[in-house]
Order: sequence, then structure tokens, then C-alpha cells
Amino acid sequence: MTKSRDNRDDDHDPGRRKFLRGVGIAGAGAAIADHLWTEAQAEETQTTPANLAGTVKVVLDVNGQRRETQVEPRTTLLNALRNHLEPAVTGPKLVCDMGTCGACTILLDGKPVYSCLVLAVDATKKQITTVEGLGTPENPNAVQAAFVEHDASMCGFCTPGFVTTISAYLKKNPNPSLAEVREACKGNFCRCGTYPKVFEAALAAAKGSKSEPSAAAPVNR
Ligand code: FES
Ligand code: FES
Repeated sequence: MTKSRDNRDDDHDPGRRKFLRGVGIAGAGAAIADHLWTEAQAEETQTTPANLAGTVKVVLDVNGQRRETQVEPRTTLLNALRNHLEPAVTGPKLVCDMGTCGACTILLDGKPVYSCLVLAVDATKKQITTVEGLGTPENPNAVQAAFVEHDASMCGFCTPGFVTTISAYLKKNPNPSLAEVREACKGNFCRCGTYPKVFEAALAAAKGSKSEPSAAAPVNR
């Protein structure tokens, strides 16, 4: 049976739509915090539930490593990764902090999500993969290598999000068309306008191409 457009989109929607449908992320913070207060025995500084100032211990599986830290229940996963781990995980970028740009995209159990919309406490017991976990400078994955080879980055702020989104997408669809790559990247924005090179790199990664970069058609977004 053919999937509806909505369902198809959901498979690769990193956050906004699912978030708006109430999948229990940051917007549900108050209710979650109350729950955690009871169950996690937060190290409190105030005992009034209405004034949650304590922290809870979270254990995160980040790029295959067990990472432990203390965060407030309201702390986003992005904030936890960047500001509460030592050493910090800074691949996911903070830009809008409201689920509109995709710079903070990470994989949660293999699915791209906006880490600025996920509470750290909701990410425990899940596999978190950031751009650092996809490959290394010495051994980049195909998308990382293609971004370098095809010069698909200007300021680079959006790049980790695009690389993460595309890496996940190519696992689902190893032979995409340009239109499909564009659709997969609809949740990521590049303020430098590097879209043609980004899409070119994605297609090259899909083909395992090591060919010389060529000019991609201009794209209006
Ligand atoms: S910083 Fe998360 S979507 Fe923009
Ligand atoms: S390269 Fe600058 S925002 Fe995309």
C-alpha cells in the first residue's frame, strides 16, 4: 500500500511536525518535570514542585560512549551535549533553539531529530549519534568525505546538521534523485545558500563518487 504523504514525511521529519503533534518533547516539559521529580529523586535546592530548581542525573549513550551528567529536567539534549558534558560534544550547533533550522540535528536511535527540541532526560536509554559519531577526520563517512570533496560548506554552521540528516537518509534511500535529496533536507537551512553544493555532495555520496565536483543547477528555496 502506498504511504500517505504525511506518513512519508514523518519518516524523515527531524522534528517540527512530530513535535507539534505532541510527541512529548520540550513542550511537555512541565508534566515531565513533575514526573521526574517523583521518580528521579532530584538533588533539590527547593522542595516545592512549582519551583523546580534541582538537577537530575542522566546517563546518555553518545556515539557509543556512556556519558553521565547532572541537568535540570528542562535541559534540552542540545544543551546537555554542548554544555554539560566534559569533554563537550559540539558538533550539533545551537542556532535557533526552537526547531526551525536543523543545525542541531542528531540521530536518536538512527532517526534525525532536532536536539534543541528533545529533553536530555528523554534521551536516556536511546542511542545518540552526533556528526562526530558518523566518522572522523581520518576516516570520514561517505557524506562527510563528499562535503569536503565537493566544497559543500561556507561558514559551516549548518553543515553538521546537513551531514547528519543526509547520512541517515542515504541509509533509507541509497540511490536518491535530486528531488528526493532536497525533500530529505527540507528541515535544514543554510543561510549561506550552499544548497547546490550540499545536494551535489549528497548525490555524490550516494553514488560513492570520487569524481571532480561539477556545478550543480541553481536551486531556489
Ligand atoms: S537549533 Fe535546533 S532547529 Fe535550530
Ligand atoms: S554554510 Fe553557512 S549556514 Fe550553511
